[in-house]
Amino acid sequence: MPVATEHPSLVTLDLSRSSSPPSCSAGLADAPWEHDVKSGYGPGASAADPIPLASPRQGTLPLEYRRASAAELDLRIRAARHTLGSRVVLLGHFYQRDEIVQYADFVGDSFQLAQVALTKPAAEAIVFCGVHFMAETADILTRPDQAVILPNLAAGCSMADMADIDTVQDCWEQLSELWGDTPGLDGRAPVLPVTYMNSAADLKAFCGERMGVVCTSSNADQVLRWALERGERVLFFPDQHLGRNTGKRLGIPHEEMVVWHPDQPLGGNSPEALMRAKLILWHGFCSVHKRFTVDQIRLARHRHPGVRVLVHPECTMDVVDAADEAGSTDYIRKAVAAAAQPTTFAIGTEINLVQRLAKEHSQHTIFCLDSIVCPCSTMYRIHPSYLAWVLESLVDGRIVNRISVPEAIAAPARLALERMLALAPKPAVQ
Ligand code: 13P
Ligand code: SF4
Repeated sequence: MPVATEHPSLVTLDLSRSSSPPSCSAGLADAPWEHDVKSGYGPGASAADPIPLASPRQGTLPLEYRRASAAELDLRIRAARHTLGSRVVLLGHFYQRDEIVQYADFVGDSFQLAQVALTKPAAEAIVFCGVHFMAETADILTRPDQAVILPNLAAGCSMADMADIDTVQDCWEQLSELWGDTPGLDGRAPVLPVTYMNSAADLKAFCGERMGVVCTSSNADQVLRWALERGERVLFFPDQHLGRNTGKRLGIPHEEMVVWHPDQPLGGNSPEALMRAKLILWHGFCSVHKRFTVDQIRLARHRHPGVRVLVHPECTMDVVDAADEAGSTDYIRKAVAAAAQPTTFAIGTEINLVQRLAKEHSQHTIFCLDSIVCPCSTMYRIHPSYLAWVLESLVDGRIVNRISVPEAIAAPARLALERMLALAPKPAVQ
């Protein structure tokens, strides 16, 4: 079982230095609370993605936290953590800025952090420095009286927002009309739903109620194999790229993978194409990973002969095919750590993780495939000012920004998560 790393790390995504590479949005130099009053995901890779009207908004952060200097925030966060002691566990995703990661008790990928949340029954509160679906997952897996807190409610995920329960239900009805609900002679369901961890709790519940399951990028092969033993086909949402890359690794031919466009009848497919399909891929994507291209890989190989190119499986299939290896954030971290000789790595994943790896492994040359700095817009929304606010509120006996999934949704979502957790995690290196 992979265990999340238990140490702080210290690199800053400093966009103010004149030597910094160009960034994709001028707004990245702003404090995140300046974006809490605006609609949209904020600066970064998802800035141009449409944001659903119902997406959670962050209320006004009290002035004292907006005004506090980095040094003052550091003192206050450390003091609050000291007072709270083991009553609070602080989890940090690999994509968080280093000013946050340094305070985390556990740093990991989405699968590892879900596992860690399960192992902390004594903590009164889990402060989840990540994005909304991760905090929801922690709430589903933890005791009802444990509070899961997301320091900034605007930290959603543009990819997760590309599938919602109404459109997925509509898709399911159309598919059920084609195939019915009766299992075939081999006992397999006509179609089984699989949702990526990056999805809302009600979609995990949807899967739980239909013999389906959740996967993450670290166990997608295993989960998809499991699902195809139980279903003739899989409806995979919301990330088409993770689905396609995994399907290809499992040997599913290209013509047996179709894309479901939620705004078109039958998802834009003919009944024949759907009948032939093994994998129906929801038309979702991650705007961070969509930035990586085959041309960037060619350039890296041209400039750095012998470079090892590692990318996340949320990248498009042509990028994954052109890379040397593809794997989850933890896979990438471990692959770098395992390299015995000084190596040049070009990495296609979120910039905070790439910069941290470069800092931690100075024996290697490590750079991001994309020369333009463009972090995840929503991970960026978590900043020490919000962390100080949620922690000091806890010290004062107030829980702010609690993420609470109603039990009617949590119970079936838990089923889908438990099916995933029951499968042993795949070894870290592909
Ligand atoms: P991991 O599952 O690798 O942590 O990735 C989560 C994510 O949001 C990637 O974009
Ligand atoms: Fe979502 Fe992409 Fe950000 Fe991950 S990196 S949280 S998938 S937008």
